[in-house]
Amino acid sequence: MKHLLTTQGLSKDDAILLLDTSAQMAATQSRENKKLPTLRGRTVVNLFYEDSTRTRISFETAAKRLSADVINFSAKGSSVSKGESLKDTALTLHAMGADAVVVRHSASGAAHQLAHAGWLDAGVLNAGDGMHQHPTQALLDAFTIRRHLVGNVGADGRGTDTSVGADLAGLRIAVVGDVLHSRVARSNVYLLRTLGAEVTLVAPPTLVPVGVEAWPCRVSYHLDETLEQWQPDAVMMLRVQRERMSGGSGSFFPSPMEYSRKFGFDARRLAVLPDHAIVMHPGPMNRGLEISAAAADHPRSVIVEQVANGVAVRMAALYLLLSGDDSAGTDERNTL
Ligand code: CP
Repeated sequence: MKHLLTTQGLSKDDAILLLDTSAQMAATQSRENKKLPTLRGRTVVNLFYEDSTRTRISFETAAKRLSADVINFSAKGSSVSKGESLKDTALTLHAMGADAVVVRHSASGAAHQLAHAGWLDAGVLNAGDGMHQHPTQALLDAFTIRRHLVGNVGADGRGTDTSVGADLAGLRIAVVGDVLHSRVARSNVYLLRTLGAEVTLVAPPTLVPVGVEAWPCRVSYHLDETLEQWQPDAVMMLRVQRERMSGGSGSFFPSPMEYSRKFGFDARRLAVLPDHAIVMHPGPMNRGLEISAAAADHPRSVIVEQVANGVAVRMAALYLLLSGDDSAGTDERNTL
């Protein structure tokens, strides 16, 4: 495995390998000594052109837990503000001996370009590219779903994870909200489907992307009907990305009040779900818009656990990319 750029085309075997390796990493994180020597002497660069809290911090934590050296690069305060291109930044990272580059960029396809333009001899991990893909978010979401709804492991992460090796066949996942701007939705649809889950996207017609008919999922415009009649095992709420709407003005249709009434998740809607169902959100949340505080903080919410699982999943991704195992991959360039 050389790069991790997308969940589309990721084979089921590779997805299970990533999840199983994540489970092994998670087991090491409930120990007193969390650090492994695995990537000692390797250099991981976090190259962030867009803001991030969870992804950047958890990639940094993951790399450090594997004993790698970590360089954090933020476009703000760098020579990018003087007009330096992605290519010249990549050549600089190459000159400094980066072994892996974790990249977040506002342009869809930026991670792919970094991986395949020949500027770098490093593994590239896509930490979110525009409205395209966010593969490690989907993997941590699948990992969380698998642990809760397939396997059995203590809330503190201790104990045996009985989900290891399993797929998500038979599970129903509703992904709700601003699908149009969501790389999380796209990544999840493809990964969850590969793992055998059924996915329904729920959104107002104005927030559904053109071409969604080709995605491997159903589409609904009615949240209450979907929850009541389809009875999903997990509801994944999406952030309303106002910064990507109306040229950045943040105005959108339907209005925030109507959106919240028709598509917001709250305690009333949670009560309609099966008893075992879980509530998810990739963060950051707009509390009071797409999700109420009561639902976000409910005992069936796994939102904080998703963040914790992100460290184990990113440890697994870095390990598989940098450990020298080139056996996995979905094309001739060993790219996932
Ligand atoms: N879920 C997610 O990508 O969060 P951040 O933007 O904080 O990294």
